[in-house]
Amino acid sequence: MSHSNTSTTKFTVTTPLYYVNGLPHIGSAYTTMAADAIARFERLRGKSVMFITGTDEHGQKIQRTAMENGLEPQVHCDKVAAGFDALWQKLNIQYDRFSRTTSERHAAIVKEFFGRVWEKGDIYLGEQKGWYCVSCEEFKEERDLLEGNRCPLHPNKEAEWRDEQNYFFRLSKYQTQLETLYQKQPDFIQPESRRNEVLNFVSQGLQDFSISRVNMDWGFPVPLDPNHTIYVWFDALLGYVTPLLEPDSEPTLDNALKTWWPIQLHLIGKDILRFHTVYWPAMLMSAELPMPGRVFGHGFLTKDGQKMGKSLGNTIDPVELVNQYGADAIRYYFLKEIEFGKDGDFNETRFIDILNADLANDLGNLLNRTLGMAHKYCQGNVPQITDDDIPADHPLKEIGLELGSRVASAYEALAFSAACKEIFSLVRSSNKFLADRAPWRLYKEGKQQEVENVLYTVLESVRLAAYLLAPIIPSISTDIYQQLGFSIDFNEKNTIQDSLSYSNHAVWGILSSNQSLSQPKPVFARLEQR
Ligand code: MSP
Repeated sequence: MSHSNTSTTKFTVTTPLYYVNGLPHIGSAYTTMAADAIARFERLRGKSVMFITGTDEHGQKIQRTAMENGLEPQVHCDKVAAGFDALWQKLNIQYDRFSRTTSERHAAIVKEFFGRVWEKGDIYLGEQKGWYCVSCEEFKEERDLLEGNRCPLHPNKEAEWRDEQNYFFRLSKYQTQLETLYQKQPDFIQPESRRNEVLNFVSQGLQDFSISRVNMDWGFPVPLDPNHTIYVWFDALLGYVTPLLEPDSEPTLDNALKTWWPIQLHLIGKDILRFHTVYWPAMLMSAELPMPGRVFGHGFLTKDGQKMGKSLGNTIDPVELVNQYGADAIRYYFLKEIEFGKDGDFNETRFIDILNADLANDLGNLLNRTLGMAHKYCQGNVPQITDDDIPADHPLKEIGLELGSRVASAYEALAFSAACKEIFSLVRSSNKFLADRAPWRLYKEGKQQEVENVLYTVLESVRLAAYLLAPIIPSISTDIYQQLGFSIDFNEKNTIQDSLSYSNHAVWGILSSNQSLSQPKPVFARLEQR
């Protein structure tokens, strides 16, 4: 089979497929916002992007939730999946495909994949005894459980004792091959701390794991033994493959893998690292498929320094948050404030402070004041300056010349926070520059040329900052670009590549006097502390 996604022109990225046991929480929104930012960045870079998100709908946990809600499982899943999609629309998430593991096409892909692994001799019937955490959908080692057989990740739930016949996957057979993968592809697991965690786990010796369940029928039947249901994680991971099918093509593995495989980037939270960096590559090895590029495990969010949970009553409802503050504010806070990979905290006071300081003051006010002056002193036109008139050691140009490549490296490393800091160094320098040069004074002194020089460099800095921030705050960036006289919308996914490429816009000095500036209007309204 040939795989064509080895070129540098394509980029495939996934979020986890979220369990539909409840409405989306801020943790799921966090991964999805990060995935959207990187997908938008790669689109600006001119790549063809395939951004996949979706829902994980099988298994005991979902079956039980549906029952508790008095709904047929499928009806329940449809309802919750729609809730996820609605949040993604509100958060301005431009995914390309939404994978649902209860789809018919997925059934065909899982069946074929299971068959391959079976043919390989990697599946056998065995005895499964152990403690099962339904919330994790995972067997736990007794030594890892808290008192009363409670799972450390779900301390309010007891793990359940299971003693049954299950089909097992020969994970142990892939020990050496996995270790070679981690060595040959050192970026496979990121960040470094997570990589070490996995290497350490694998070095203790891998055990086969069970991939079927009995007495549970919300899932796909094992092809040759329909008394067994395929384990939800085995099915879910393949949910990354099914959406790669073109909508009109036959659901076969060959078709699914033709264009977009291998996936370059799986974005996940740190709690599901093992599934993605050990089980998943081993399954792919068994089916003789190429490996994904990298798996990045981000940290966990807390609220006011505390673990979030329904029982603690301190969950953050992302829908409420977005209704109150808008998509860009939320995207900005989480991506700028938390170093991606580390745990991070949400605190409303801090949230409001940061948005006011960065978006309303430093960026928004800067644009507003400078546009105002351009209207007052330059008839609302971009000053007639050619970039050659500005020396390379000009304090803003100096930063601007390098910024595009520095920010690109940060985005590539998923260092969203570092990208924002780089960008805001230009914004803050612009504010300082404006205060130092005081164009209002220069104007009074009749130094028109100098006034124009100052305003041009500041407007160009704001433009460059807005462009580089577009993956994170696309609507504010669009607003800024439009006020600067571009008829461009960063949310128009399909036209973005031609008109807005990184190589044309992430550079210093493109603002031209052909553009007419619009009257300033605030791009971000100051928030009041509650
Ligand atoms: N269904 C599986 C994934 C299957 S992928 C083939 C699953 N779903 S989940 O809905 O429980 O979790 C989805 C993601 O949300 C995980 O990446 C998890 O790390 C993330 N988060 C859950 N709570 C979180 C926080 N409090 N903070 C940050 N992310 C968190 O696991």
